[in-house]
Amino acid sequence: MFPPLALREQLLSLLRCPTCGSHLHAAEGALCCPQRHTFNVARQGYVSLLSGSRATSGDDASMVAARGRFLRTDFYERLRQAVAIRAAAAAPERGAAVDAGCGTGYYLTGLLDRLSGFWGLGLDSSAPALRVAARAHVRAAAASWDLYRPFPLAGAAADLVLNVFAPRNAAEFRRILRPEGRLIVARPTERHLAELREQVPTMVAVDPSKELRLQWALSPLFASVATELVEYAVSLSSEQAQDLVAMTPTARHLDRAAAPASAPKGPITVSILITEYQPR
Ligand SMILES: C[S@@+](CC[C@H](N)C(=O)[O-])C[C@H]1O[C@@H](n2cnc3c(N)ncnc32)[C@H](O)[C@@H]1O
Ligand SMILES: [Zn+2]
Repeated sequence: MFPPLALREQLLSLLRCPTCGSHLHAAEGALCCPQRHTFNVARQGYVSLLSGSRATSGDDASMVAARGRFLRTDFYERLRQAVAIRAAAAAPERGAAVDAGCGTGYYLTGLLDRLSGFWGLGLDSSAPALRVAARAHVRAAAASWDLYRPFPLAGAAADLVLNVFAPRNAAEFRRILRPEGRLIVARPTERHLAELREQVPTMVAVDPSKELRLQWALSPLFASVATELVEYAVSLSSEQAQDLVAMTPTARHLDRAAAPASAPKGPITVSILITEYQPR
């Protein structure tokens, strides 16, 4: 059922019709606005706000399956906890979190487990990812959206925005956050998976100018409160390495046969920066 009964009131007060900006209400298997713009609720429990238009990007089913398998290994659990702790320290007791580019809902789930007074909405353009995210947590809902377009959400309504390894839209993050809200951005450093990239030369490297572009895009609208480096080493089996390769942007450029056939040699570095921002 969508919206989940426990979240109905909060969710409908956050969502807006993507076509005309009006409030939405729940109808049979859909959400509708007073102008009768209608958005189907998928059988798996997410609402298709992106109906009739294609997103500029998004993960396909095999990338989502690889991500799901890899995240179940718990190699990123330390990272998930670090994101949740950082967000929880800055959050009020009760509120709404929006995970922009939620994927399978892994980080949103970690946050909601830590913040029992919060509910969350995951936005993503990938239907296979949303099918998983919609069921990831009892206090989570999911909706399809293209992060490069104006969000179908009310202004100043979110207490937290999460953005983990996903496209960013600084102006929309700022608009939907309450003035005292927080944006939490996690992204890889140049050291992230460096040893794996050496062994799989066709893997896409982290663009060194990305960090500058992030600061350039966010700094007019957000002030950085704190940045934390989460760095540790993991030992991967060949299957785990293949999933890790298959869930990164590399998957678009590399056929699976080129992924490591044997376990990668030596430890692989996980290296992520987490920054907490407050609206200016
Ligand atoms: C690297 S994954 C990260 C997913 C999740 N945050 C995680 O770390 O597990 C990037 C996510 O962004 C989504 N994405 C890519 N382009 C998008 C767009 N234009 N609008 C919405 N989501 C997009 C993909 O479908 C994918 O789920
Ligand atoms: Zn409408």
